Amino acid sequence: MPIIIPVITIDGTSSSGKGTVCNILSNELKWNFLDSGIIYRTLALAAIYKKINTKSENSLVSLIINLNVRFVFNKHIAKIFLDGKDITDKIRNENISILASKIATFKKVRHALLFLQRSFRKLPGLIADGRDMGTVVFPDASVKIFLDASLQIRTKRRMKQLQKKGLYINFEDLLKKIKERDLRDHNREFNPLIAAKNSLILDSSKMSIEEIIKVIKNYIKKKYNYYYI
Ligand code: DC
Repeated sequence: MPIIIPVITIDGTSSSGKGTVCNILSNELKWNFLDSGIIYRTLALAAIYKKINTKSENSLVSLIINLNVRFVFNKHIAKIFLDGKDITDKIRNENISILASKIATFKKVRHALLFLQRSFRKLPGLIADGRDMGTVVFPDASVKIFLDASLQIRTKRRMKQLQKKGLYINFEDLLKKIKERDLRDHNREFNPLIAAKNSLILDSSKMSIEEIIKVIKNYIKKKYNYYYI
């Protein structure tokens, strides 16, 4: 019988807390961690570096085929190397967020990235963070979570994250950018951001990370009786 490697998917809107939750869970479980957003972000940055027309679906697919990307993990946090250069800090700005969201609307791009994303599914298990983890990339995942929070709260959280990196942006401008990205991620034709059937839907607006983790752990325990949590 083939071994089925368990997957827990955590999908949701940007800055809903997915990344932090995935990080804590993957550390506690000692499972692998896929942050699929960094794949779209890396592609966006690679397209800029290589002067690829980001409106051309076929050019982006050729770029994916030749993409020389490496993920080096330390305590489940990935450092990303593109053509041997560390680009980890370069993909976390709002211009890259927007471009990643734009190129993520292309069907062929999404399809071409499936193999890379699924290659993260290794023993003992995988925590997958994204927009379509539970619906498209790992539809057979044993536990599916969908995280959301109000636009105001998410903008505040994102501002704090950016400020920690020394990046300052006006609140209203940032809110507008996140709103636009939400609309594009929700409304795109292929693999839009929606909660997978049978997912646990959580609004993290008024919850601390500790509370979210507690609820998710209880859900995992109740649903599948995972002994390691
Ligand atoms: O999670 P993130 O903010 O790093 O993702 C950046 C963009 O990448 C997001 O706005 C849409 C796209 N994305 C996607 O379409 N599907 C995923 N599974 C992950 C990210």
